[in-house]
Amino acid sequence: TKIAFIGVGKIGQTIVFNTVIDGYADEVMLYDIIPELPEKFEHELRHALASKRLKVEILSTNNLDDISGADIVVITAGKPRKPGMSRRDLFVDNAKIMIDLASKLPKKNAGATYIMVANPVDMMASVFAKYSKEFVVSTGDQVETMRLRAYIAKKLKLPVYKVNGFVAGEHGEDAVVLWSTVTVNGKPFSENLGVTKAEVEDYVKKIPGEIIRVMGGTTWGPGTIIAELIRAIALNENKVMSIAIPRQFEDEIIHVSVPTVVGSSIGPTLESLLDEKDRWNLMASMKDFYNVYKENLKQLEASI
Ligand code: NAD
Ligand code: MLT
Repeated sequence: TKIAFIGVGKIGQTIVFNTVIDGYADEVMLYDIIPELPEKFEHELRHALASKRLKVEILSTNNLDDISGADIVVITAGKPRKPGMSRRDLFVDNAKIMIDLASKLPKKNAGATYIMVANPVDMMASVFAKYSKEFVVSTGDQVETMRLRAYIAKKLKLPVYKVNGFVAGEHGEDAVVLWSTVTVNGKPFSENLGVTKAEVEDYVKKIPGEIIRVMGGTTWGPGTIIAELIRAIALNENKVMSIAIPRQFEDEIIHVSVPTVVGSSIGPTLESLLDEKDRWNLMASMKDFYNVYKENLKQLEASI
């Protein structure tokens, strides 16, 4: 498997590290606009791989033309939010990067699967799809899904594998906990266990902002979770993950997370298995996404 990483800043580096240390990739390609950054990061990775006695080919470059023949392209290039900002505030700046990449990457990477990470991640996936016509998934709410499981497990003093369940909808403030999917010790979630739904939702939505305030960005959580997504695709694992695949909604292709089977082919989604309340909340989240997306596209067009 040949995997390209477009952007090797904070989150890009964490995803790359988790991927190469897994040892299955034949080759990784690293690209960033900062001079020498991909090259110096390549040295770091080689030292880590030497210690692990692993062989993964690495190509690092500041020239996008060198990125060719990838099976999977992971896009983290873009501005991160600062404390107090919403991810949606990054739309115009990061969409311009996506339009540029959409005009260049597909030429030399025919048939690649694109994984969008840059924020607002679902809308960036939709912009990239709109301008490239390529298949792109957004990492979406798989990150929230793991935050939810981690929080419930910690509160209830249980190993995390005893907690199941998914978060869906738009990545961020509008995410929807699919309570009908949440189980603890194999039984449906109940507030009587000692943790409220409101508390869980609050944690899932607020913790990334708190991490950014103190640590300058989120890395280890999403960096591990997104590496698992890359592996599920590369190794055809057919795992259920809450990611966003393209769907037609009115006149646009949009990306809104739903639990989805992820392997070398991606889908189907498990939407039809959700209870009515969760499906209704998900549909409301899609409508809201569509409206905000259309508004943002107008602002983008006015700025270019
Ligand atoms: P960062 O500033 O550390 O890294 C961004 C990198 O992108 C920089 O190295 C920069 O030089 C590079 N870059 C900018 N424009 C580029 C271009 N045109 N081509 C190639 N590289 C380019 O920021 P970060 O913390 O790594 O975050 C990057 C993005 O990922 C942000 O939008 C952030 O919000 C998002 N993010 C998403 C998730 C998620 O769960 N989806 C998690 C963490 C971060
Ligand atoms: C996250 O959820 O960790 C990312 O989307 C980064 C952010 O919160 O801006």
